[in-house]
Amino acid sequence: MVLLCTFSLPLLLTCLAGTFASEREQGRTSEETTPYGPSNVEISGVNTVTVEVPYSFQCSANCFPACTFTWTRGGLTTQGPELNLQLKEQVPPQVLICMAINPTTGKSVTVSKTVNVTSGPSNIKITGPDTLSSGVTSNFSCSADCSPSCSYTWTISSEAQSTSPTKYGQTISVTPDSWEIAEELICEAQDTVSLLYISTYVTPYVAHGPGSILITGASSVTVGDTYNFVCLVDCTPSCNFTWTFNGQIFNGDEIQLPIFHKGDTPMVGSKLVVTVDEYRHNEALTCEAKNVASGVTAVSTKILSVTDPLSVQPVSQDKPLAHQPFSLQCVGSQNPASILWLKNDLPVAVSTRVSLSPNNITMSFSPLLQSDGGLYQCIVSQGGAPIKGVGYQLNVNCEYAEINYIYTAIFAHHTPVFQERP
Ligand SMILES: *[C@@H]1O[C@H](CO)[C@@H](O)[C@H](O)[C@H]1NC(C)=O
Ligand SMILES: *[C@@H]1O[C@H](CO)[C@@H](O)[C@H](O)[C@H]1NC(C)=O
Ligand SMILES: *[C@@H]1O[C@H](CO)[C@@H](O)[C@H](O)[C@H]1NC(C)=O
Ligand SMILES: *[C@@H]1O[C@H](CO)[C@@H](O)[C@H](O)[C@H]1NC(C)=O
Repeated sequence: MVLLCTFSLPLLLTCLAGTFASEREQGRTSEETTPYGPSNVEISGVNTVTVEVPYSFQCSANCFPACTFTWTRGGLTTQGPELNLQLKEQVPPQVLICMAINPTTGKSVTVSKTVNVTSGPSNIKITGPDTLSSGVTSNFSCSADCSPSCSYTWTISSEAQSTSPTKYGQTISVTPDSWEIAEELICEAQDTVSLLYISTYVTPYVAHGPGSILITGASSVTVGDTYNFVCLVDCTPSCNFTWTFNGQIFNGDEIQLPIFHKGDTPMVGSKLVVTVDEYRHNEALTCEAKNVASGVTAVSTKILSVTDPLSVQPVSQDKPLAHQPFSLQCVGSQNPASILWLKNDLPVAVSTRVSLSPNNITMSFSPLLQSDGGLYQCIVSQGGAPIKGVGYQLNVNCEYAEINYIYTAIFAHHTPVFQERP
């Protein structure tokens, strides 16, 4: 501050101007060189840290000259305004201490910040059935490890419906529509504190059917002949078939029928080949289809009218009378290899009185006795399985003379005398 002034007026102004300028300059220089602070020392950064995630905290202060910073956390000390933190495991809340030091004055200010520690979300998983059934409600549950808790969000999409409303909550109920083939269920678990999230998904298959079920094939069958029946059903992913006919259970042969696709619903079928071996007039043929995934079943029944080409018939129109000759015939066979006769399901015993023709087609009683009454059947073998013909119930009538005699005896109040004929 050297004042070089003359006392001449014009120069005085010059001198004053120079002085003011000099004072201003001097003042600024004084501000720059006077140390101050630290003040307003602050830590910036998150309030909660998640295990495994890296974080950075900043310490700042008003300070001249620039402060130096020392961080302390749990006995560890680092230098510089920035603290990098990445925790390896879940620990109690952490106290972060920042000390700002003015390097010129040595004056220091210490501040601290407590950060909570959270972990997760991790280990997310969805539990629920592998397969859905159209129209049937299934529940799915999502779980994840979060500290202290997770919130769950679901997104459901299917091929037909790409977007669907988001659902909230740990468990959801899903009811697929008939046209859906598979659903995609996405679960997102978000840590309620850190707001970090994790997601996973499942794509359960939608089982359909069995819906409409139908047995194709003949409605009228003949004993001894072989028939093909097909049970058709729309069923995904697959159906198991069980056939029942004539009290017997068959598995059938599974067949794929792409030609029978109705709309988009795949049809599957089962083929049954049966030989009708017994005459029962009407016989129920049933096909049960069971969805291998959902276990849902459907049953179709076809009533078959069974005809038997073979039957036992009397040779003549005459009534079977005791003590008269009588003959039965096995009708309907063609080139039989053998014919066997049954009376009340037991082989007939031939004798001089009860005889068979050389080819066994005719059975003759000579004479007929009351004791011959019963159900007669013939079993014909003509190459394939033996066929049992429709039976004939033989009811032996009394001889006219004998009937007259009994009637007379009753109405005349006589004591009838019965005699065994020779
Ligand atoms: C830390 O957690 C406790 C208990 O959950 C809570 O009271 C506190 O506000 C949390 N502190 C911060 C900084 O989030
Ligand atoms: C599915 O969840 C609903 C309620 O959310 C419940 O009423 C139903 O019983 C559950 N069904 C099954 C199969 O668990
Ligand atoms: C379907 O049939 C197959 C083979 O016959 C069998 O192994 C399977 O257990 C059956 N499935 C069901 C659901 O009945
Ligand atoms: C005829 O019937 C008898 C007695 O039942 C039997 O032993 C025989 O083999 C039969 N013969 C033929 C050709 O059917």
